Amino acid sequence: LDDPSADPFEIARTAAGELAEATGIPRHDIALTLGSGWAKAADLLGETVAEVPASEITGFTASAVVGHTGSLRSVRLPDGRHALVIGARTHYYEGYGVRRVVHSVRTAAAAGAAIMILTNGAGGIRETWKPGTPVLISDHINLTADSPLEGATFIDLTDLYSTRLRDVARSVDPTLDEGVYTQFRGPHYETPAEVQMAKAIGGHIVGMSTALEAIAARQAGLEVLGFSLITNLAAGIQKTPLSHQEVIQAGREAEPVISDLLARVVKAL
Ligand code: 6GU
Repeated sequence: LDDPSADPFEIARTAAGELAEATGIPRHDIALTLGSGWAKAADLLGETVAEVPASEITGFTASAVVGHTGSLRSVRLPDGRHALVIGARTHYYEGYGVRRVVHSVRTAAAAGAAIMILTNGAGGIRETWKPGTPVLISDHINLTADSPLEGATFIDLTDLYSTRLRDVARSVDPTLDEGVYTQFRGPHYETPAEVQMAKAIGGHIVGMSTALEAIAARQAGLEVLGFSLITNLAAGIQKTPLSHQEVIQAGREAEPVISDLLARVVKAL
């Protein structure tokens, strides 16, 4: 993936082939990337058929971030569909390049998935969101100044976070709020002034993932559903300094509730 002359889609097809071999499941119907706080959902979805260390699959980079595990799981849903659960996210701030960031999404598409569910832990701009609140992503603002698309690939991003899938999610939990996710590069959290900028331009959630992955998912023809777990309020909105520990802790506490929500949404799709 680091060789600019290599085709990232070809590498994703190779990865999907290895995944089929390693899991014994030739096709996955739906894929989920589980961010901070969402990992338990994998156990509630159904029966784990196989779990593969991401490092064994072409193109995957083992995550060094505390709170992120590094495996790919095949889970059989009660109705017989198969979900590919991606517990290995490469973040843009790790500096490996955008191809690595979106490789899991392209691999999911090559594995047959039609739906991509992207989840993350993020900061809230709305004061009414308590830590532990899950929020549907309605749209995004990509502030990374980068794109997973290379060359003259002019794709439409209208309704990127599928209205249809959001409606399904709200049929499971009518109390779900939604908001615009703003992807910053990180890994530092934003300054209070940057949070005010995000708010002024229409953002409700600040984070360090998801937007680039969603663009790649659209390019690959996947329908996208996104969820943020609000782990804390953003800098300046919350009066106390932010800490990664606090983010992990909020994720842990919310985990049972949001994992159950996610599992019920997947069953309803
Ligand atoms: Cl406040 N900002 C960003 N960029 N990511 C976060 C966060 C804030 N809180 C959790 N993840």
